[in-house]
Amino acid sequence: MIKNISPSLLSANFINLKEDIDIVKKLGVSRLHLDVMDGHFVPNLTFGPFIIKQIRKMTNLHLETHLMIENPHLYIEEYAKAGSDTIIIHHEASSDIKSDLRKIKDLNKKAGIAINPDTSYDQILPYIDLLDYVLIMSVYPGFGGQSFINSTLNKMEKIVEASKDLGITIGVDGGVNLKTINEVYNTGIDVTVVGSALYGASDIKQRYEDLMR
Ligand code: DX5
Ligand code: ZN
Repeated sequence: MIKNISPSLLSANFINLKEDIDIVKKLGVSRLHLDVMDGHFVPNLTFGPFIIKQIRKMTNLHLETHLMIENPHLYIEEYAKAGSDTIIIHHEASSDIKSDLRKIKDLNKKAGIAINPDTSYDQILPYIDLLDYVLIMSVYPGFGGQSFINSTLNKMEKIVEASKDLGITIGVDGGVNLKTINEVYNTGIDVTVVGSALYGASDIKQRYEDLMR
């Protein structure tokens, strides 16, 4: 089983962000997960393109930008210009998913869609040909450190099956920790997003090794 962890910077130390990025790079991660929240689609606010631009200057790791924002079409170009490599819109937030995904691809970025725990797997099927990435939310988006929702495991298996041989990366986001990580990978998904269970540890290196076990 190949475990690919995408650390979520939501739980990193923004006072010394460069150090927290370098630590995980040294451990061998290939991508970073950037949680953008607008205070409308989710009841929390984080950062926008200005910060992503700064992160881009700090690292050459693949940057996946998870847009938890309403009207994503208005901002896709800005997030592309800021240096995102993958741009993920929410199924529940977009008014024209096909057009948004095409917009991302026209900007030469990888296009992703995130689905909330109560959105069924078949909702992504009409867009599957346009997708580079599917992000299955295993918590309701908005905050780090929430508990994993077990009923999403079944959806993971279904999406893995539906996207077989299509070259789509399947990610899982929320509540992935030492207790849940193995059952998540057992569904066949490719990447887990890990925030608090990694950056919240007193020894990040040790925790990473424990998660990869
Ligand atoms: C939740 C975010 C996640 C979050 C994961 O709204 O999309 O990326 O940072 O955090 P943990 O790993 O703490 O559940
Ligand atoms: Zn996320």
